[in-house]
Amino acid sequence: MTAPQATPERDDVSTASTRKRVCIVGISGKLGQYMASHALDRGYDVVGVCRPKSVAKLAEFGDSITVIPGETSDRAVIERAVAGADAVLTVLVPWGMRNYASRTAQAVLDFAPAQARLIFSCGWHVRASDADVYSRRFLATVAIASWLAKFVRAVDIADQIRAADRVFASKTRWTLVRGSDLEEGESEGLPVWGTYVGDPILASNLTRRTDFALFMVEAITHDALIGQAPAIVGCRSGSALAHAASLHA
Ligand SMILES: NC(=O)c1ccc[n+]([C@@H]2O[C@H](COP(=O)([O-])OP(=O)(O)OC[C@H]3O[C@@H](n4cnc5c(N)ncnc54)[C@H](OP(=O)(O)O)[C@@H]3O)[C@@H](O)[C@H]2O)c1
Repeated sequence: MTAPQATPERDDVSTASTRKRVCIVGISGKLGQYMASHALDRGYDVVGVCRPKSVAKLAEFGDSITVIPGETSDRAVIERAVAGADAVLTVLVPWGMRNYASRTAQAVLDFAPAQARLIFSCGWHVRASDADVYSRRFLATVAIASWLAKFVRAVDIADQIRAADRVFASKTRWTLVRGSDLEEGESEGLPVWGTYVGDPILASNLTRRTDFALFMVEAITHDALIGQAPAIVGCRSGSALAHAASLHA
């Protein structure tokens, strides 16, 4: 099933007293910095967590954001960062062999305010339901990449899956955004999404990274995405355009 995209209504974020507080966990990465820009564009107060050695990557934001240095898997750091947050945007990356992604996810799930919108990022390889359909080629590629990454002890892709399982099992107001392959470039607009991997709308398998971030930020005010794991693709990609054309045929 697919849904045509409508830009969700934006909250009134014009005054300090009503301004939403958005926490970005993993703010210094590429996705994190794009999310920070989109959140600031919407008038949100932005707090971000990143490793101490990466704080300098955020220099261009100056004092428009608040940075809390620390490992994103550090529970005390996350507890402090998510205090009072209306939304928490978490970049799930399975670095190293010490359950980095699942420990990050668990800390966010445990400490974010009960009513906060929690949006997590991952890739299509995370299965959300039996409806997801993968080609043999895709599965083989993920298996080889997982083995190689684990062999050199750089990345434990299975840990991103464990992190997603914790999100799915939680009683929070979560959304897990599953990204296609990513590319740099100007925004093309809000990505389109399918509820399952294998949906023809996703066939192009390419999204601009800034638009992945845009989808994460828009999801804050898009309650229809609560409890969903949308798989996204660029709105100007061939498969998205073909889907749009078929609706008008
Ligand atoms: N093809 C793709 O790339 C693809 C496809 C689909 C989905 N995704 C999803 O996109 C997200 C990542 O996007 P991205 O573009 O922001 O990646 P990124 O720029 O590589 O940054 C990801 C995060 O990982 C941190 N990091 C890097 N090396 C680390 C290490 N050794 N130990 C601990 N943390 C480390 C970064 O922090 P620092 O700034 O401190 O380095 C940053 O917060 C993930 O959720 C991924 O699953 C990616």
